[in-house]
Amino acid sequence: MKLSVKGFEIHSGFLDVGRQRAVLNAVRAVVAQAPFFRPDTPNGKAMSVRMTAAGTYGWYSDKKGYRYIPKHPKGTPWPAIPVEVLDIWQQVTGLDRQPECCLINYYDAQAKMGLHQDSDETNMGWPVVSISLGDEGLFRMGNVTRGGKTESIWLRSGDVVVMGGAARLAYHGVDRIRSGSSKLLPKGGRLNLTLRVVE
Ligand code: SIN
Ligand code: MN
Repeated sequence: MKLSVKGFEIHSGFLDVGRQRAVLNAVRAVVAQAPFFRPDTPNGKAMSVRMTAAGTYGWYSDKKGYRYIPKHPKGTPWPAIPVEVLDIWQQVTGLDRQPECCLINYYDAQAKMGLHQDSDETNMGWPVVSISLGDEGLFRMGNVTRGGKTESIWLRSGDVVVMGGAARLAYHGVDRIRSGSSKLLPKGGRLNLTLRVVE
């Protein structure tokens, strides 16, 4: 089922369990090469979300600010974006242009992500595609400027969200994780993959 909330295109139940497992296995192979780490926010606090990435670029943050970097902090290039993930991008966007970053976020039961805009990319005309796996996350959608009314939806394992058009620069965040709501990840928690055109 596809619904639109404040311009966010939500494909609920887009991936069946078989495809969710295939993406999960591909993510595990990426994480074996590029382990999760906790970036610091520019004001020096460790984020609660653990991150890694695949692609030409990974997203990174520290005291110097938010940016894309061509190598994992341990010094090795990021692994390639798995084909199972590129297939999802192709299916929901229909674009010939491929994303250059697949940011992989892991939320444990306590993790959350404050309202923010995705604005570190060179050309914000391209959409961002988000894929959720594991425990449900309460996703909050706002406006292109800070403040104003927001709407929230629980994103479930297998849901795919396209943030394009009016929603591309809209504020969004994850308020909380519903621990134990999915059996996909044996140790629980939520994985979110976001595909981004960076250059
Ligand atoms: C993000 O905005 O980077 C992640 C969104 C999500 O976890 O659903
Ligand atoms: Mn974001």
